[in-house]
Amino acid sequence: MNGKKVLIVGIDGYIGWSLAMHLATRGHSVAGIDNYSRRRNVAKVGSVSATPIREMDERIHVFNMAYPDARGAIAFKEGDLLDYSFARDYIKWFKPDTIVHLGEQPSAPFSMVDREHAVYTQHNNVIGNLNLLYAIKEVVPDCHLLKLGTMGEYGYDTELEIPEGFFEIEYKGKKATIPFPRMAGSWYHWSKVHDSNNIMFACRLWGLRSTDVMQGIVYGTRTKQMILDELLTRFDFDECFGTAINRFCAQAAIGHKLTPYGKGGQTRGYLALTDSIQCLTIATENPPEKGEYRVFNQLDTVYKINDLAKTVQQVAGKKGMDVEIEPVDNPRVEKEEHHYKVKAEKLRNLGFRPTRTLEEEVDIMLTDLMRFKKRILAKKEVIMPKPYWKQVSQPPILTR
Ligand SMILES: NC(=O)c1ccc[n+]([C@@H]2O[C@H](COP(=O)([O-])OP(=O)(O)OC[C@H]3O[C@@H](n4cnc5c(N)ncnc54)[C@H](O)[C@@H]3O)[C@@H](O)[C@H]2O)c1
Repeated sequence: MNGKKVLIVGIDGYIGWSLAMHLATRGHSVAGIDNYSRRRNVAKVGSVSATPIREMDERIHVFNMAYPDARGAIAFKEGDLLDYSFARDYIKWFKPDTIVHLGEQPSAPFSMVDREHAVYTQHNNVIGNLNLLYAIKEVVPDCHLLKLGTMGEYGYDTELEIPEGFFEIEYKGKKATIPFPRMAGSWYHWSKVHDSNNIMFACRLWGLRSTDVMQGIVYGTRTKQMILDELLTRFDFDECFGTAINRFCAQAAIGHKLTPYGKGGQTRGYLALTDSIQCLTIATENPPEKGEYRVFNQLDTVYKINDLAKTVQQVAGKKGMDVEIEPVDNPRVEKEEHHYKVKAEKLRNLGFRPTRTLEEEVDIMLTDLMRFKKRILAKKEVIMPKPYWKQVSQPPILTR
C-alpha cells in the first residue's frame, strides 16, 4: 500500500489522536492542527479527561520512542481553522491527499446551554468547515475531504429505514433520488446538517471529492496503539462531553448509579473507538472519484439506552462491582421510545468488520477506568444532567 499524506483537523481530540497513531503505524504520513478548544471547553464545564492526557508535542515524542519504524510520521501545529490564512498555509505546506475533518465542537448539550453556546458552536463548525472547503479549492482541489458528520443529522423521528444519504422517492407520478430529510435535535446537530449541505454544494460547484460520514456514538478507552499511558486518548464523562456508554462506564467505575434519561427507549447506532478508526482508515484508503459527494453511515449496532445500562451493569457485576440503575428525568427534548432502522452497508462493502462485542469493549473500559477512579471521583458532580433543552423552547408542531 502506498502511504498517503493525511491532514487531521482536530488531532488532539478523542478520535483525532487515536486515528493519527493508527495511520502513522500503517505507513501514512500524518500532520495535524488543533486549537485545543476541547480541553478548554471541558474545563469550562468543570470537568477533566478521566485519562491523563499529555500536550501534543509530548504525545508525539512518546509515540516516536514507542514506534521507531514510524518515527517522524506525525507532525503538529497549534492553530484555529477559523484563521483562514493559517489553515490555507498549513495545507499549502503539507499538500495532503486526504483531509480528515474532526475539528468541531461536538457536544449537543454544550450547544444547548444558551445563545452564546449555540452561536459559538454553529460559528466554529459551519465557518471552520467553509474555510476548509475554500482552502481545498484554492490549494489542493484533488484532495479527499473526509468529514465527520453524525447519525443525529437524520434525527430519530422517522418510520422509514434511514438510507446512506440519499433515497428514491416517487411524488406526483415522478421518481427522483434526493437527500434523505435531516431532522436534527440540537444546535450542534444542525451545524452538522449545514456542513453537509455546504460540502454537497462545493462538490457540485467546484468538483471537489468528499466522504461525509454519518457516525454513530463512539465508545471505548483505547486502540491497540495505546501501549503506554502516555499514548492514551482523552476520555470524558461529564454530562456535556461524555457520550452514553462512556458515561455509564465512568459511573460504574466510581460506584455511582447508572442514570439513563427518561424511559430509556432512545435508540441510537454505536461503534467502538477502534472500529471508528478502522472505518476512517478504510475511507482514507478508498477515496471517492473527483466531483463525488458520498455519504457513509458509520455504525456497528443499534441499542436502546436501557439495554446499554443493563450491559454495563452485567459486565461490572462479573468484575465484582455492584452497580444500580436509576433513571433520571430526561434533560433533552426527544422521543423516549421510537422506531429506528438504519442502512449501513457501504463501509462493510469496503471491508469494515467490527472487531469486538459491546461486552468485551465495556470490560476493557471498566478495567481502564478503575485505574483512573480518583480523577473521576474528584469531578463526579459534573455527571448529572441539567435541562438545557427545556430552558430554551419546545419544538414547533409541524403542520402535516
Ligand atoms: N465521539 C463521538 O461519539 C462522535 C459521534 C459522531 C460524530 N462525531 C464527530 O467526530 C468528530 C471528532 O469527535 P471527537 O469525539 O474526537 O471530538 P473532540 O472534541 O475530542 O475532537 C475535536 C478536536 O477538534 C478541535 N477543534 C475544534 N474546533 C476547532 C477549530 N476551530 N480549529 C482547530 N481545532 C478545532 C478540538 O480542540 C478537539 O481537539 C467531531 O466532528 C464530532 O462531531 C463524534
